[in-house]
Parts: sequence; C-alpha cells; structure tokens
Amino acid sequence: MLVLGIETSCDETAVALVSDGVQVRANVIGSQIDQHRPYGGVVPEIAARAHLELLLPVLDRALVEGGCTYDDIDAVAVTVGPGLIGALLVGVAGAKALALARDLPLIGVNHLEGHVCATQLESGALDPPMVALIVSGGHTSIVLLDADGAFSTLGQTIDDAAGEAFDKVARFLGLPYPGGPEIDRLARDGDPAAIAFPRAMLHDGTFDFSLSGLKSAVVRELRRRDAAGIEIDVADVAASFQEAVVDVQVRKTLAAAQAHGVERITVVGGVAANSRLRERMTAACAAAGHRLLIPSVALCTDNGAMIAAAGWNRLAAGQRTGLDVEADPNLVLTPLPVPPSSAAPGGSPR
Ligand code: KG4
Ligand code: ZN
Repeated sequence: MLVLGIETSCDETAVALVSDGVQVRANVIGSQIDQHRPYGGVVPEIAARAHLELLLPVLDRALVEGGCTYDDIDAVAVTVGPGLIGALLVGVAGAKALALARDLPLIGVNHLEGHVCATQLESGALDPPMVALIVSGGHTSIVLLDADGAFSTLGQTIDDAAGEAFDKVARFLGLPYPGGPEIDRLARDGDPAAIAFPRAMLHDGTFDFSLSGLKSAVVRELRRRDAAGIEIDVADVAASFQEAVVDVQVRKTLAAAQAHGVERITVVGGVAANSRLRERMTAACAAAGHRLLIPSVALCTDNGAMIAAAGWNRLAAGQRTGLDVEADPNLVLTPLPVPPSSAAPGGSPR
C-alpha cells in the first residue's frame, strides 16, 4: 500500500511516498528557511504562505522521485497537529482536496506520533514497549509507548523546548536561524567542560525539563565576560551549552526507561539530529544495556515519510479520518490502535 504523507506543521513543506509503512520511495522537503532567516525564527504568516506556494511543486517532485503517478497512491496521510494553525491548514486542505478528487482514504496524523514512527522506516516496525525522547523546536518530552500502543507522557519541559533553546542561544551568539545545527557544528571545536552551565531539575526525581534558566545563564555569562573584557570563545560557549542540554536529556531518558523496565529507547525530533546527543545517548545505552533506535539525521527533522509511516499504521488497523477533520494546533497523542509490532511490514490493509 503506497501512502502519500504530507507535513506542513511548521517551516518545512514536506511530501513523501512510503510503501507499506516502511519503505521510503520519495521524501521531498521544500525548505522555507531562507524566508524566515531574516527574522531569526519562524514567522507563522510567512510559513503559511510559503506552504501554499510550495505544496504542489513539492508534491510533483515527490511523484517524480518515487517514479509514480497519482494512480499509484492508495491513501493520503497528513499532519493535523500540533503545530502552527495557518501552516497546518494548508497541508490539511491539500490532503482533503487530493483525497476527495482521487477518492482516496484520508488519515490525520499527530506530528509527534509521526516523529516516533520515523524509527520504523529503518527498523522495520516500532516494536514497543519503548521510551521515546521527543525533542524538537516546539516539544520536549519523554513518552512511554507501552506494549498495547498507548502513549503516556512521563515528563516534559516546563518552559522552553530544546530546539527553541538551541535557536535562542544561537541568536545570542550571533548565529543564523535555525541555530541548532549551527551550535552543533561550532561545538565540535569547543570544550564542553569550559563553562559549568546549570543542569536544571537533574536530581528532582521527575522526568521533566527546564531550559529557560540555562538560556539565561548563557546570556549572563556572555555579558559578564563582555563587561570584564574577557575574550568570548564562541565554540566553548556552544559546546558547554550543548553539553548541559544533552547531559540532562540523556540521564532523564535512561532513568525513565529504567523506572519503567523498558529496554528500547528512541530519540526523535529535530534535536535528535544533534551529534553530541546521538553520541552520548549511544554510549549511555550501550553501557546500561538498552537498545537504542535513532532515525538517521534526515528522518529526525520534519519530513513527510514519518507522517506516511504513522498514517499507514492507522490505515492498516482500519482507521480513516473524515473529510471534515480540522487542523488542531494543540492536538494530543492518542493510543496507537494496535500493537505496532503486529502491523509488521509487508501486509496490505487493502
Ligand atoms: O522536529 P523539527 O524539524 O521541527 C519541529 O517540529 O519543531 O525540529 C526543529 C528544531 C529546530 O529548533 C532546530 O534548531 C533543531 O530542531 N535542530 C537541531 C539540530 N538540527 C535541528 N538542534 C540541535 N542540533 C542539531 N543538529
Ligand atoms: Zn517536528
């Protein structure tokens, strides 16, 4: 079954074609970063307009890349939330139009469920139970996906999301948007132990996070050095900030997996592309005997393939979304309909 996945929740217009929930035939991303960069962040109105301009060309490119025509598509999956309402609306309207015009089943997908399902594109099936660290521009949480497919949030940020903190600190360091990849790159030449930034809530016994104090600590340190005439080594600041973020994320995720007796850990979302997080998480999981699944970098940041994969899981379980579905900027995670391991690759729900 070939599912077309459409993702427009933030600043990437993404369309993919995925066979049987696991095999990526095409994964095209029309980036809007250049349009948002002058403003140092995503401007919701610009995002919505850019999605409108990019959606059809990106869709055309996906069909060419996948060597398909509209006739080959069996279903349409689309992100319905959470995200920016104007941005979501464009993808949802496009998906509805396509489903109506081609008489195809439509399935609405939760963006965060999509991030988690990115893992099945490389591992073949989700295979819960698993603990997922979801770290993106808008979300930071530790989620348990239990053997029955139910999600429960074990902890989350009480203020800034991880990607938001990376982007804000990058701005203070004079780096372009999006700042996460810039900090990651710069940090490779820096000393992660140069500045002892705070690790908020590390020992509070919860799986929650707080990042706004860390961001303020970076700004204070930059101002203090500036006022004292101390030269600022941007690479050291980037590496020390990144280490503080990663340190808490790695320890809390492992603690959550241990508390719930779960062997499998996954790290997903745009910040999962961070090389230090990947490195530290890999080492920590190996040392503690956890099995780690992290999608490749291209599948961590927003993409249509993860939406097609999540959509396929639900379509395979017989779910459909009505054409009256509405974009929901605050959509919450709902249980996966069946244990995803039983929705193994190869089966066609049609
Ligand atoms: O999941 P995503 O593509 O979009 C949202 O759903 O928000 O995540 C985007 C976020 C941005 O804040 C970006 O700076 C961050 O992911 N990001 C990174 C890296 N690559 C992207 N953060 C740290 N290191 C990276 N290599
Ligand atoms: Zn995302």
